Parts: sequence; C-alpha cells; structure tokens
Amino acid sequence: MAQAAALITGASGGIGAELAKLCAADGYAPVLVARGTEGLYRLSDELAARYGVNPRVVAADLADPTAPNAILDALEGEPPAILINNAGFGWRGAFAEADFDAQFDMIEVNVRALAHLTRLVLPGMRARSSGRILNVASTAAFVPGPFMAVYYASKAFVFSFSLAVAEELKGSGVTMTVLCPGPTRTNFGAVAGIANSRLFQGPAMDAAEVARIGYQAMLAGKTEVIAGARNRWMIWGTRFTPRGILTRLARRLNSPM
Ligand SMILES: NC(=O)c1ccc[n+]([C@@H]2O[C@H](COP(=O)([O-])OP(=O)(O)OC[C@H]3O[C@@H](n4cnc5c(N)ncnc54)[C@H](OP(=O)(O)O)[C@@H]3O)[C@@H](O)[C@H]2O)c1
Repeated sequence: MAQAAALITGASGGIGAELAKLCAADGYAPVLVARGTEGLYRLSDELAARYGVNPRVVAADLADPTAPNAILDALEGEPPAILINNAGFGWRGAFAEADFDAQFDMIEVNVRALAHLTRLVLPGMRARSSGRILNVASTAAFVPGPFMAVYYASKAFVFSFSLAVAEELKGSGVTMTVLCPGPTRTNFGAVAGIANSRLFQGPAMDAAEVARIGYQAMLAGKTEVIAGARNRWMIWGTRFTPRGILTRLARRLNSPM
C-alpha cells in the first residue's frame, strides 16, 4: 500500500527537519519543501535509510505566489494526510528603513503561502473526512514587535487564522493545530539578524523538542500549543499586561544586548 504523504514546508533545517523525522518515524512519506535542495536531499536520504519511507523533494520558493500550486502538482492531485506549514523567516530593523523585498517576501512566505497551501489541500482532506494540519506561528503572535513589526504581525495572522479555521473544521474529521514556539536553536536567529538580541541571548529550546510538542498536539487534534513551560507562563502573563507595556517590552527584547 502507498505510504500516506506528509507535506512539510521549510524542511531543509531547524524545526521543519525535525517535524519531517517525526512524520517519517510514523511511516508517512515526507514531501520536503524549501529552497535549499542540498539540505532536503540529505534529509531525504537519511529518512529513507532510517525509516524505510519514500520521501520526495520539492524545491520551491514560497515567496513566489505560484509555488503552492506547483507543490500540489508534484503530489499529482492526491491531498496529503498531513500538511505542516512551517516555513518562515524574520527580519530585524525599523520598518521605515527596512529592506523592501524582505518585508513583502515575509508576508508571502509566512502568511500568503500558508493560507494558499491550506486552501489547496482542505477540500481533498474534507472529502476524505481525515487530515491533520499544523501551522507554525510563534509566541510573537501575542504581542506587537517593534523592530520586527512585519514578522510579529505575520505570526498574529497565523495564530488567529488557525484558531478560526480549526473551529470551522470541527466535526469534519480534519483538524488544524497552531504551534507557538519561543526562542529555539535553529538558523532563525541568524537569518533574522536577532541572534544577539536580549530575547535570543536568553534560554532557548531544542528544535527537536519543539517539533515533538507540535507533532503530538497535531496528532491529538489540539487547536493550539505553546512550546515549553517558560513560554506558556510568559504568554499567560500577557493577558494581564497593558498593550503599551507589552510593546515596549518586546522592543527591549528585540534590541541587541
Ligand atoms: N527558531 C525560533 O526561535 C522560532 C521561534 C518562533 C517561531 N519560529 C518559526 O518556526 C518556523 C521554522 O523556523 P526555524 O526556527 O526552524 O528556522 P530555520 O532553521 O531558519 O528554518 C526555516 C525554514 O524555512 C524555509 N524557508 C525560508 N524561506 C523560504 C522560502 N522563501 N521558500 C521556501 N522555504 C523557505 C528554510 O529553507 P530555505 O532557506 O532552504 O528555503 C528553512 O527550511 C518558522 O515559521 C519560524 O517563524 C521559530
């Protein structure tokens, strides 16, 4: 019998690669998506050898609005059993001076591609009355983020969107889960230019641990999960803190040490 597919974006490293390993360990055939094919092929070989699955590599730049359709074409019309919208990146700097392409590519990758891929796979999943979707947001979803304004806002979109669609899907056999990691040891900090920030100089979690938390929540059909007790407490605290204070706190955390 053909292995059910698990489509994972941003699988070339970090949290996405760890999520792909968990899918493969459960016998799903991972469909690995990112721009960097070297990392994808290395992971594909490792997963095939370790778990006996048949991974597929799809090189795609999710900043390109045609990418989601091309990815689905690579699946030959068969919706995956699992969709993990994990690809994303951040950028630090004042919005007025920000690199133009980086800001709008961030919206394309973190927001548009996530919504687009979800919209493409949902009808097939609903017709089958089964499917699991995991969207990777961030603890950044809960606060405005000065000097990372677009990134924080993009994750607020992912969080709100996921909760709303999860509610629409109730009773359909398809579930949507949103994972909110805090600082995690991956390439993210270096790509975003925040490795030296107060936030990233503090404690960070392992990508494998964050992935495990998200994966288990997804399999359990939970709607939302914040990775790690420290992050859960922090987000709980935001409920009782005035927005102005939260915004100034985020500004401080995003600043270099
Ligand atoms: N690490 C953290 O502290 C942290 C905290 C909260 C949330 N998150 C979220 O976790 C998710 C995974 O990030 P990570 O921490 O694992 O960082 P990472 O190691 O930098 O991985 C990001 C992944 O996204 C892919 N990607 C980036 N831009 C892309 C594009 N235009 N098209 C296709 N793929 C693209 C990258 O592959 P290529 O570069 O090869 O394309 C890579 O596979 C992101 O959504 C991030 O916002 C991370």
